[in-house]
Amino acid sequence: EKSECVSLSPMREAVPAPPECERVCVFGTGDLGRSLGLRLLQAGYGVVFGSRRPHSSSTLIPHGAQVQGHAAAAQSALMIFIAVQREHYDFLVPLANQLKGKVLVDVSNNLRKNQYPEANAEYLQSLVPGAEVVKGFNTLSAWSLQNGPSDANRQVYICGDSVEAKQVVMAVATMLGLSALDRGSLSVARELEDFPLQLFPQWRLPLRIAIGLSAAFFFYLLIRDIIYAYATQGKDISFRIMVSLANKVCPIVSLIMLSLCYLPGVLASFLQLYRGTKYRRFPDWLDRWMLCRKQLGLLALGFAFLHVLYTLIIPIRYYVRFKATERTVSVIRENKTTEFDTTTAWRGDSYLSLGILGFGLYVLLGITSLPSVSNVLSWREFSFIQSKLGHLTLLLCTAHTYLYGWNKFLSSSIYKWYTPPGYMLCLVLPSVVLLLKLLLITPCVDHTITRIRQGWERGGRS
Ligand code: HEM
Repeated sequence: EKSECVSLSPMREAVPAPPECERVCVFGTGDLGRSLGLRLLQAGYGVVFGSRRPHSSSTLIPHGAQVQGHAAAAQSALMIFIAVQREHYDFLVPLANQLKGKVLVDVSNNLRKNQYPEANAEYLQSLVPGAEVVKGFNTLSAWSLQNGPSDANRQVYICGDSVEAKQVVMAVATMLGLSALDRGSLSVARELEDFPLQLFPQWRLPLRIAIGLSAAFFFYLLIRDIIYAYATQGKDISFRIMVSLANKVCPIVSLIMLSLCYLPGVLASFLQLYRGTKYRRFPDWLDRWMLCRKQLGLLALGFAFLHVLYTLIIPIRYYVRFKATERTVSVIRENKTTEFDTTTAWRGDSYLSLGILGFGLYVLLGITSLPSVSNVLSWREFSFIQSKLGHLTLLLCTAHTYLYGWNKFLSSSIYKWYTPPGYMLCLVLPSVVLLLKLLLITPCVDHTITRIRQGWERGGRS
């Protein structure tokens, strides 16, 4: 049986085989404690559970593990997992002698952020100053431990003040099939404890923007299209909410969000131009904005995708088929055919084609922003696609919308209740971004920007 045992500490690596079965202690016989114990047993460790009532708590304990009183259990192992709620940590205070020099792994989580003044792991360290506390494994659930870690949750974070203690924990993590990433000293514990409580943090702002824009344009178009028709002509065209309105809100939000992806980069370039140096930090809001560009772009792609789907179903709509038949019948009845208008054909095909090309590049941008793809691209390739092709996508989609608007921009009948149609409003931001970008790529401005990015400073050091 001894040959199945594994060495706990990397410091013993010089010794060829562990002299005896390495023992790991687990305090806490809850779900997480038991799952940890089971995994440790499977990995070849001897496991001893510390319990207040060692004789009555053995029924649920994984087969092969021992149960002892806390003091005896602590003495028999170098490393102790503390899988107990923070409120019960004070039972450790009387064990200070037995815990001296031991590695205590705090695996706890909280129910909400800022629940306590200090991190659980720091609190644990203050209760047992003689032990070496390491925070870690708290992103793992009992469920994932029982089922074996999958690719996505193989990585665990640890932090602690003692390098040796962290090495001990890392070695055990490796034996459990996990890869532990050292995040630094115990002061980082609070951040690690917040990880499992975060809900898609980088998506929050982009999602809010998407919902806000969708709601604003939905009500704007509802008033302009549907309520206007009812108020002025008494016509009920509320059925249009489902497809026509949705097929306006989606592309409008998509185009605005796509320009929001490229606006911060353009603003940052102008800021560098204005300051004449790249060695000053961008304001926080600009930093935060730049960091969520990928999420903005992916959401924008989602809206563009919906627009394409809504567009594809236009021919099978009852309303559209009804109108087309009605027109054909009236042409026959009045025996009055219209001339084929080449300009209209050109215009229609052009804006559709630009939309399709724009959408094609849009999808390419989306695919290359996925980590599995972007990881195999060099930085130059990635920035070529995201910047050059990104601006081209914005240009194509903007041109698609301008051509769709065509000559309607000048006709006054389009401004119902003195308000412009949605597509005109949504053209403002992309047009501004494209104009600013055009300014940036004019040779003399481009030359200055390139020099600044290479480290040159206006009136400065080099
Ligand atoms: C409008 C087709 C891609 C932005 C339209 C319309 C059609 C169309 C038929 C007129 C809809 C209507 O009559 O109500 C397509 C096709 C695409 C495509 C076939 C690609 C396969 C895109 C993309 C964008 C975009 C990628 C960029 C975000 C717009 C905008 C409008 C529009 C803003 C005006 C919406 C409004 O009526 O207010 N498109 N489109 N389109 N499209 Fe596209």
